[in-house]
Amino acid sequence: MKTLAIVSQKGGVGKTTLATALAVEAVRRGQSVVIIDLDPQASASFWKDTRQETLFEDPLAITAVPASRLAHVLAAAENAGCDLAVIDTPPFSKDIAYEATQRADFVLIPTRPAVLDVMAMTRSLDLVKHYERPYAVAITFCPHQGREVEDTERAIRELEANLCPVRIGSRIAYSRAQQTGRAAQEIDPGGKAAQEIAGLYDYMGIHIGAVAQEGVKNG
Ligand SMILES: Nc1ncnc2c1ncn2[C@@H]1O[C@H](COP(=O)(O)OP(=O)(O)OP(=O)(O)O)[C@@H](O)[C@H]1O
Ligand SMILES: [Mg+2]
Repeated sequence: MKTLAIVSQKGGVGKTTLATALAVEAVRRGQSVVIIDLDPQASASFWKDTRQETLFEDPLAITAVPASRLAHVLAAAENAGCDLAVIDTPPFSKDIAYEATQRADFVLIPTRPAVLDVMAMTRSLDLVKHYERPYAVAITFCPHQGREVEDTERAIRELEANLCPVRIGSRIAYSRAQQTGRAAQEIDPGGKAAQEIAGLYDYMGIHIGAVAQEGVKNG
């Protein structure tokens, strides 16, 4: 089993949206997936509660646990035959971010395209460097135009941090899907958000191996 943690101590950067969309993408690629919700706000768990009919068969499990139980739950997921665990974390909690980071095979650090957000993100960078975890910073809420994304990418490179080449656009499909317990690629399979999530998943697959490309279920 591989473990992906989505970590950012900034709020509202798209952690839960990416956690749920990547989990759905993994299911679409034939993987058995569990989302581990470490956020006391339980957004991912509420997402799952509202998730009713989906385009894909839904073997997607979710469990909301305190971070102190993370190791136990990861071991149980592995014993149960899960291929991928996706850990969603809350903003502002250093302790929970620590716990998730140290147990992850790969850490995704979402950030909005603003230089001040990049500065805030350095705390998450310190964590992945401390635990020597493979990671990438992914820019989310990218506007259609303007210089923000390029400026943000430059700031990330200046920090000598790993930059994910896939940009996540600011797209209504993400928020609309989130509100109905689905992922963007489920409500608009041919859309740009679907392409971004597939690209992000492929990128992570290259880095952590194994969560990849068996038969794609249901197209
Ligand atoms: N790429 C995007 N484009 C447009 N809206 C988005 C995008 N990503 C997330 N959203 C919306 O922005 C809001 C915040 O996203 P999300 O809950 O995923 O962030 P978060 O980092 O998990 O927040 P928190 O720190 O509170 O847990 C949600 O309403 C979500 O639907
Ligand atoms: Mg969240």
